[in-house]
Amino acid sequence: MSQFSSLLITNCSQLVTLAGPSRPRLGLEMRDLGIVDDGAMLVRDRRIAAVGARNEIEPAATDDTEVIDVGGRVVMPGFVDAHTHLVFAGNRAEEFEMRCAGMTYQQIAERGGGIRSTVRSTREATEGELVTAGQKHARWFLQGGTTTVEAKSGYGLTVHDELKLLRAIRRVSETTSLRCVPTFLGAHEIPDEYKTQADKYVDLIVDEMLPVVAKENLAEFCDVFCESKVFSVTQADRVLSAAKRLGLGLRVHADQFTSSGAIDLAATLGAKTVDHLEQTTRDSIAVMKKLDVQPVLLPGSVYAIGSQKYAPARAMIEAGLPVVIATDFNPGSSPTTSMTMILSLACTQMKMTPAEAVTASTINAAWSLNRAHEIGSLEPGRIADFVIHDAEDYRELAYFFGNHRPHAVFAAGVRV
Ligand code: NIG
Ligand code: FE
Repeated sequence: MSQFSSLLITNCSQLVTLAGPSRPRLGLEMRDLGIVDDGAMLVRDRRIAAVGARNEIEPAATDDTEVIDVGGRVVMPGFVDAHTHLVFAGNRAEEFEMRCAGMTYQQIAERGGGIRSTVRSTREATEGELVTAGQKHARWFLQGGTTTVEAKSGYGLTVHDELKLLRAIRRVSETTSLRCVPTFLGAHEIPDEYKTQADKYVDLIVDEMLPVVAKENLAEFCDVFCESKVFSVTQADRVLSAAKRLGLGLRVHADQFTSSGAIDLAATLGAKTVDHLEQTTRDSIAVMKKLDVQPVLLPGSVYAIGSQKYAPARAMIEAGLPVVIATDFNPGSSPTTSMTMILSLACTQMKMTPAEAVTASTINAAWSLNRAHEIGSLEPGRIADFVIHDAEDYRELAYFFGNHRPHAVFAAGVRV
């Protein structure tokens, strides 16, 4: 904040605070955004000091307060993206072209492409090269108004390469303004060298990878891609149970292409989230509700692989679940860092309201990462991660699709 001791953000057409209960917003509560019209906000020491109507907050400014008049724009918390594959080497533009010509994502994967093709390029990359790639992706996220991401490993699939990815994620978090919450996803795919002996690969994860990840504090969560032809429920159980014993939180890629029983497993183990859920049924929705698991919906990965079947967001919201939406940024199924694109898809394809989509990409996402005491809302004491959007009304974020650019992005009170 240079020579100024505080920062006043004022003349906000809507200050979207997301202030609310000290738990995730459930179901229709997601429509309550805690909007202050004609609002202002005071920031001091990288944190939010006061939030309210302009005439209440402005008098708190002193001679050494820097004043930013946002010109009647919307101010909101930075987006919290609770599901990304932030760091990988290369890209899969070639496979994208194959899909445009009619091949499916799974056909490409069965022929050795897909995740395994990114694993090959990521294994060849040095840690420094991965940091550089991650920093580039971090810039894309920040430019789009995202200030925190969950970041998964999962393109290394050897002890050495998974640790390399997690260290690269840590370095990206330390060297950019993007806050990264690391997740170990050693069980993302069965690597070529274990193709006929998946259980042996699970042994490697449980006996060798997880203990080092926990000892070196390289991840807060552990995730598994539980899917037919990838990791079975039994194998996912072994990985997640071992992770839980080591104190890691749990997240699960579940019901993306087939409904496999992953949700029951996740709920029984006390997972924080189940992610994807395109094939999820009403029965599983009831299980999530009963056992307090947050659904993380990833409409970008449905859109980009050209599938028609989106997760049943409305049924989940009507059942009272604390829904989260995220980009699933990755080089295969969802090559986007744009949370406003995800808002658009959530509204047009999953019939969420714009307000529900905003809650799902900010405060509810922060809860899913155990960070709601610090980020995801604009309340006194929270870290000053916020975005001045080029919009007068928050609904414009989902409505104008494909071209939205934040006017300014602040991470911990500093403009990025
Ligand atoms: O969440 N489903 C598994 N993992 C990713 C895709 C990763 C890739 O294609 O590289 C997903 O969609
Ligand atoms: Fe994913």
